[in-house]
Amino acid sequence: MREMEEMILSEGEVLPGGILKVGSFLNQQIDTGFLRDMGREIARLYRESGVTKVLTIEASGIAIAAAAAMELGVPMLFAKKHKTSNVDGSVYSTEVHSFTHGTDYTVVVSRDYLLPTDRVLLVDDFLANGAALRGLIALTRQAGAVLVGAAIAIEKAFQHGGDTLRDEGVRVESLAVIESMENGMIAFRR
Ligand code: G4P
Repeated sequence: MREMEEMILSEGEVLPGGILKVGSFLNQQIDTGFLRDMGREIARLYRESGVTKVLTIEASGIAIAAAAAMELGVPMLFAKKHKTSNVDGSVYSTEVHSFTHGTDYTVVVSRDYLLPTDRVLLVDDFLANGAALRGLIALTRQAGAVLVGAAIAIEKAFQHGGDTLRDEGVRVESLAVIESMENGMIAFRR
């Protein structure tokens, strides 16, 4: 998506450690017109896939997942990071390791909302090592739902999470794929 690349070049800030700051339009302040365009582009990519639910993880994935779900006319569901008790077995849960933050966390989603009959599209803002996406895939599999694919706003290809998932047969569509960010210079995969 050309507009995403232009937005990253004009608004993004490359931080040490391969981190791209996009707080001005995606991660803190949200450019709502652009959000709608992102939702439309994701819906265009997956329009023929029979998606019944869009699944993301709180927090930053929620806005773009909602925009995509609105365009597809389906519900958006977000997995929660809080430690929610599962003593009554009412949730699906899995562990996620965040390489960026160096922490582990549990993600949970209620069995009431992720159904075996669902055809699930995963949506997130960033794809780096792929840990978050793998957590969502695990939840989808626990529910016995069909994984249609994933749509990501910004993929950092130099962390290889996206290509590894593609090699495993998962459809991964990213609105912008950053090949490298060395010396503050952003290079896209086209
Ligand atoms: P992975 O899921 O692809 O393996 O990525 P990783 O664990 O490394 O990322 C952990 C968090 O950092 C995620 O957000 C992810 O969206 C975010 N992240 C990764 N790379 C970048 C980057 O270059 N720029 C920005 N702005 N964020 C990045 P999170 O911890 O789940 O937090 P939240 O913001 O979704 O609440």
